[in-house]
Amino acid sequence: MVEQSDSVDEQSSDVRTEPTALAALFDPAVAGAVAEEFVVPPAPVAAEALIPEPVLGPTGRPWPDLPVPPPATGGPAMVIALCNQKGGVGKTTTTINLGAALAELGRKVLLVDFDPQGSLSVGLGVNPHTLERSIYNLLLTRDTTPEEVIDATNVPGLDIMPSNIDLSAAEIQLVSEVAREQTLMRVLDKVKSAYDVILIDCAPSLGLLTVNALTAADKVIMPLECEFFALRGIALLNDTITKVQERLNPRLEILGILGTMYDARTLHSREVLERVVQAFGERVFHTVIRRTVKFPETTVAGEPITTYATTSAGAEAYRSLAREVLARCLVG
Ligand SMILES: Nc1ncnc2c1ncn2[C@@H]1O[C@H](COP(=O)(O)OP(=O)(O)O)[C@@H](O)[C@H]1O
Ligand SMILES: [Mg+2]
Repeated sequence: MVEQSDSVDEQSSDVRTEPTALAALFDPAVAGAVAEEFVVPPAPVAAEALIPEPVLGPTGRPWPDLPVPPPATGGPAMVIALCNQKGGVGKTTTTINLGAALAELGRKVLLVDFDPQGSLSVGLGVNPHTLERSIYNLLLTRDTTPEEVIDATNVPGLDIMPSNIDLSAAEIQLVSEVAREQTLMRVLDKVKSAYDVILIDCAPSLGLLTVNALTAADKVIMPLECEFFALRGIALLNDTITKVQERLNPRLEILGILGTMYDARTLHSREVLERVVQAFGERVFHTVIRRTVKFPETTVAGEPITTYATTSAGAEAYRSLAREVLARCLVG
């Protein structure tokens, strides 16, 4: 009996709560008390709208505000070597197009073809087979002056020091020279005052020619193809750079690592770039060069992409890289 009366009490207490809930709908005092518990703070919504979301670049980091480059200082030139012992990673393409983009920004630029294959020369419309004098003569003969070897290109402000297969003999002949690692540096010292930037297109090896390029350089740019084996051999390249820093050229610094042949549509490309950023952090340039058939076409045309397809994404990418390079050179 007692149990029964308890359950009746419970039921009746449930019924008694109902008027209170109903009252809350009509009685402003009760309604206010209830409503206060659920006040939605309006402020953050408006504040968030004022701060724009950072725009992420292709490397997954916020895209920086690249400063408008200051006017050129007029030499002595900053010497930058484009180096990776792997072939086909975009060293030559980057040398030509970064050089052309820097020239567009009012810089006087010299491109040094330091690969016996002469691809840089071909890419700028020079026929390596018909050269009377090339960088080989500057390295190994005393009677050649840089003016006799340097040629103007069709791009205003962009000059080239061409090479051909003779340069492969230089690698062997230099071995017996005194201060053989400084040979290119001695050549470039004679022309540094006439340029703002000198870019050296290295051969795909870590031999004596590349050591000469690293000894002559202030900075290194490493192009890395966004492919599975991109990071292979980078330890060896780093090792070579460290040795040159310690023994031959203490001012040498890595200016940046450049992702090339990037294909945003493939997960693979994105993953490789992610790993490169994990490994090298802020050293990786924000600018990434996408894979496009326009680049092989420019080689056939013998001109940079900035003039061949002046409004293309590829041309814009190298213009962006030029700004990044100048910004980093100013800071460092
Ligand atoms: N971003 C790119 N997209 C597509 N093809 C490219 C790109 N960059 C370079 N290439 C092509 O790949 C080949 C190798 O590039 P190259 O610059 O000569 O490399 P490396 O000098 O490191 O050997 C060339 O045929 C070049 O035209
Ligand atoms: Mg090359």
